[in-house]
Amino acid sequence: MKFEFHNPTHLIFGAGTLSKLGEVVRRHGQKALIVTGGGSVKRNGTFDRAVSSLKAAGMAFAECDGVEPNPRITTVRRGARIAQKEGCDVIIALGGGSTMDASKVMAAAFYYDGDPWDMIYHGQPDPHIPTRALPIITVPTLAATGSEMNMGAVISNAETKEKSFVQTECLYPAVALVDPEITVSVPKDQTAYGVCDLITHVTEGYFNGVDGTPLQDRFAEGVILTAMEWGPKAVADGNDLEARTQVQWASIVALNGWVNAGTNGGFPVHMIEHTLSAYHDIAHAAGLAVVNPSWMRFAAAYRPEKFVQFAGRIFGLKAKGPEDLDGALQGIDRFEGFLKSIGCPTRLSELNINDALITRYAQDTLRIIHDKEGNLPGRPPMTGEDIVGVLRAAL
Ligand code: NZQ
Ligand code: ZN
Repeated sequence: MKFEFHNPTHLIFGAGTLSKLGEVVRRHGQKALIVTGGGSVKRNGTFDRAVSSLKAAGMAFAECDGVEPNPRITTVRRGARIAQKEGCDVIIALGGGSTMDASKVMAAAFYYDGDPWDMIYHGQPDPHIPTRALPIITVPTLAATGSEMNMGAVISNAETKEKSFVQTECLYPAVALVDPEITVSVPKDQTAYGVCDLITHVTEGYFNGVDGTPLQDRFAEGVILTAMEWGPKAVADGNDLEARTQVQWASIVALNGWVNAGTNGGFPVHMIEHTLSAYHDIAHAAGLAVVNPSWMRFAAAYRPEKFVQFAGRIFGLKAKGPEDLDGALQGIDRFEGFLKSIGCPTRLSELNINDALITRYAQDTLRIIHDKEGNLPGRPPMTGEDIVGVLRAAL
């Protein structure tokens, strides 16, 4: 194992913390740009409470609303222009992963004269990697992506049908103000997708990482077991604050760098899913719920032992030995059953996706990210045919 770990985001976690927003933001600027999504925060009163807290702290603010799920680069451009025109010096992302990701890129675009799409890897020879951004305060309203405490952002370009990411130090939020109370209004389907997303963040590192990471394996298993215990409770009763709290903490830990530290693996399931959402504008983790079990069956054939470990430690299944592929597959079936039980789709047909563009999805995924041999990084690295095979098996 060889790695560096650094996460500068100041995390403030707990029910009721939204009331501290004003005093927290005040430490980072004088005038905030509040970025929101399609209107949920206005309908459920969260926006008004955030604004009261800002006013009480004497903060000035401007607004950029209307960030769409799978946030578009056009919205990022619009938000950056508002921040510049209004003279904002801090950005508040009040929403789900889409709002937080768009806010991060707006914060960097504020200082960039070129087009922010230059920052998103989409196969261009020399992407612009930002080194400066306005301070970002994330206030997640949905437990899923972990964007509130990481340096990634995923942005879509509807014209070119591309969806990809930027990941760099200056995009770490200055503060993540995480109040599980404001997630009680998340509908059942989005709650379930959040659970699937956070689990997939740790299965990527667990199955694609290097050997010899026993502690990271246990961390990952802890996140999965916690999500499987509390996730269904949050889906069954959205007002169960204890369940919302445990799921939200799990979602942060899953992708703030700690659980995957040293695993150094690819994120093939995410990369394939991003291409699907680029074409079909589906919810990110609805796509993951379809791709991940199919990918697991593909990867288990190469390395059953890690999947046997997963089957044993997560579902208590006893395999005949470390090479027992049937035992490994039983664990994957159980995992897929769990996803179904909380209401996630597990077939492409449920997302109205057929095989018409299946080769294109594989080509696009590889254009955005590939190793020296031209394959999608992961264990094992995937050729275009492998990607097509995984998607075909999920039809
Ligand atoms: O837009 P509003 O009206 O707020 O409604 C949203 C949206 O319709 C709604 N919602 C959010 N909080 C709510 C709520 N509804 C009621 N009450 C609340 N408290 O939920 C819907 C989905 O929101 P969105 O932000 O799109 O969901 P999510 O948090 O799952 O974010 C998905 C985006 O994040 C990217 C995904 O690819 C996708 O674009 N990801 C970002 C990552 C990162 N930055 O680290 C990693 C992830 O793997 C992922 O790729
Ligand atoms: Zn994800």
